[in-house]
Amino acid sequence: MPYNPNRKGIPHTRAVTHQGEDEVDQPGTRSPHPIGLLGLGVYLPERVMTNDEWTEYVDTSDEWIVTRTGIHTRRIAGDEESTADLALAAARAALADGAFEPADIDEIVLATDTPEVFIPDTAAYVQTRLGVGHIPCYDLGGSGCAGFVLALDIARSRALADGRRVLVIGVELLTRLMDWEDRNTCVLFGDAAGAAVVGPDPGAVEIVAATAGTDGSKSHILGVEAGGTRVPTTVERVEQGLHKHVVMRGREVFREAVSRMSAASHQVLEKAGVSIDDVALVVPHQANLRILDAVRKRLNLPDERVFVNVHKYGNTGSASVPLALWEARDQGRIKPGDLVLLTAFGAGFHWAAALLRF
Ligand code: ACO
Repeated sequence: MPYNPNRKGIPHTRAVTHQGEDEVDQPGTRSPHPIGLLGLGVYLPERVMTNDEWTEYVDTSDEWIVTRTGIHTRRIAGDEESTADLALAAARAALADGAFEPADIDEIVLATDTPEVFIPDTAAYVQTRLGVGHIPCYDLGGSGCAGFVLALDIARSRALADGRRVLVIGVELLTRLMDWEDRNTCVLFGDAAGAAVVGPDPGAVEIVAATAGTDGSKSHILGVEAGGTRVPTTVERVEQGLHKHVVMRGREVFREAVSRMSAASHQVLEKAGVSIDDVALVVPHQANLRILDAVRKRLNLPDERVFVNVHKYGNTGSASVPLALWEARDQGRIKPGDLVLLTAFGAGFHWAAALLRF
């Protein structure tokens, strides 16, 4: 579908202050070919699981989980739900939010570490059920909790180069694939999906700049080692639970997450030619409260300028940034004209940041 400059954006968040002389006073003025975030949607499974419920499965306590992570509850997908179901629901919500039809979408990029099946990718399932036609669709698999912001960066480039309208999805059904007997990891995660429509639109929420990076030398610090070609699935390995064992060196992950999310934030601000003082709200990957607090301190920001919802949903991987952004908008924490900074970090290690102007 050709680019139509009169297309709809997010009506209630359309910026109204960037025309004429106002533009001169705005930090990081609008690019001549702005790429917009044209719709945003989420899906949360109904079941809420408390920390106390975890004590039925592992030797833990509400006190330990809250003190170490700030997490109180998380959502758990129903037995009948799979990754594509969650992704589809979020995708439909994002389309409705931007008043789009499936036929308006030119491409789908889906970030997940918990795919529908091993082959093909989850995006193929979403494409058929969404009814978008034979457009290109692909997964960013294994990109960890940075997946959605990485996908946003890719979508922005596709929109810029080719005028495409790209559906970006971050989805995780982490509780299905993790080890419910490993207290080191199981209490951290939750299930959710978030989606955004990205495309050329001068009037919408603008993606002002984006940045991303990877340090593959740290791949052994966080991930699932069994199940691929290096450590193939065998009966013995499945019996040992290795296919769902998340290797995680918690303290190293903690340190890297804080350092990379802060550095990526500064990098994207520099790209956009603005300072952290210009940013109204930072929406970071919701790994845990202590990581969020450490990032906030590194960025020298007060509590109210960093959005937090990890206490309700736990770490939802690649769904966490769109879920937090959606909730921040829903709670009225973002006003027209605000600069909003997204920053994320995850297995790989991958990191990414994006600056939005509402
Ligand atoms: N309940 C009770 N005790 C637990 C639990 C639990 N759920 N999990 C671990 N423990 C125990 C360990 O067995 C260990 O006991 P030991 O000392 O007897 O061996 C002890 O708690 C570990 O304590 P600490 O090392 O002091 O724990 P720490 O303060 O480092 O907190 C945590 C651990 C929460 C994992 C922290 O390191 C962290 O947040 N790391 C980041 C991990 C993360 O966010 N991963 C998500 C994916 S990556 C991302 O999203 C950025």
